[in-house]
Amino acid sequence: MLLERMLQSQGFGSRKHCQQLIKNGAFSIQDEIITNPKHKLDLTQPNFEVYGKPYTYREHLYIALNKPQGYECSHQATHHFSVFDLFDDVSMNRGIQCVGRLDQDTTGLLLLTDDGQFLQALTHPKKHVAKVYQMEVADVVTDEQVRQLTQGVELRNEEGIFAATEVMRLDEKGLQMTIHQGVYHQVKRMIAAVGNKVEKLHRAQIGQLTLNDLPEGEWIHLNAEQIEQAKFRSKL
Ligand code: URA
Repeated sequence: MLLERMLQSQGFGSRKHCQQLIKNGAFSIQDEIITNPKHKLDLTQPNFEVYGKPYTYREHLYIALNKPQGYECSHQATHHFSVFDLFDDVSMNRGIQCVGRLDQDTTGLLLLTDDGQFLQALTHPKKHVAKVYQMEVADVVTDEQVRQLTQGVELRNEEGIFAATEVMRLDEKGLQMTIHQGVYHQVKRMIAAVGNKVEKLHRAQIGQLTLNDLPEGEWIHLNAEQIEQAKFRSKL
């Protein structure tokens, strides 16, 4: 791939801008500065530097963020910060989007990507990718509430029954459950439907992918194995 095209594909700006960067001596690979924009790159060696900062060539971006409270999943956040404020221009130029949404007050695992097929695979309602949520609720969780959540509840303006699996009490007012769809405010509405109220919500897992020790507000690029873990479909 031509060097100027590679840089453009990675979010460094227009082709003209990338040509200029290269001519200015900003690009180096294995300690060698290359100033010819038409240089043919061997992408089996994907690591390079721009102005001394390390980057890795990636055909697509697959990002896991540990979302903090107070961040909206929209570009034009109105009352809070936007999750996109947590990313640099180079990632933003690639048009990353959230894979599904978390409410501004929900914390935890949020995926972002510029790969439309990956986004579709994870958000299509029929794909049944499991999402594990942990929450604190307002009132003590009863056996009846656990039973109802497991059997399924109706949600206003939504078709069908919404059931959770692996519903587990963590303590008196702590609950963990797995859902397999992703309709608007689904967890909060399911909990309201059984007569309780979510006070704090955290997403711990998507498919088989967990946050591990990723600190709040930080993000990582997923490797091939982690991408497959995120796509893992439950047998429903
Ligand atoms: N369900 C909700 O109610 N809120 C979220 O942020 C995610 C799932």
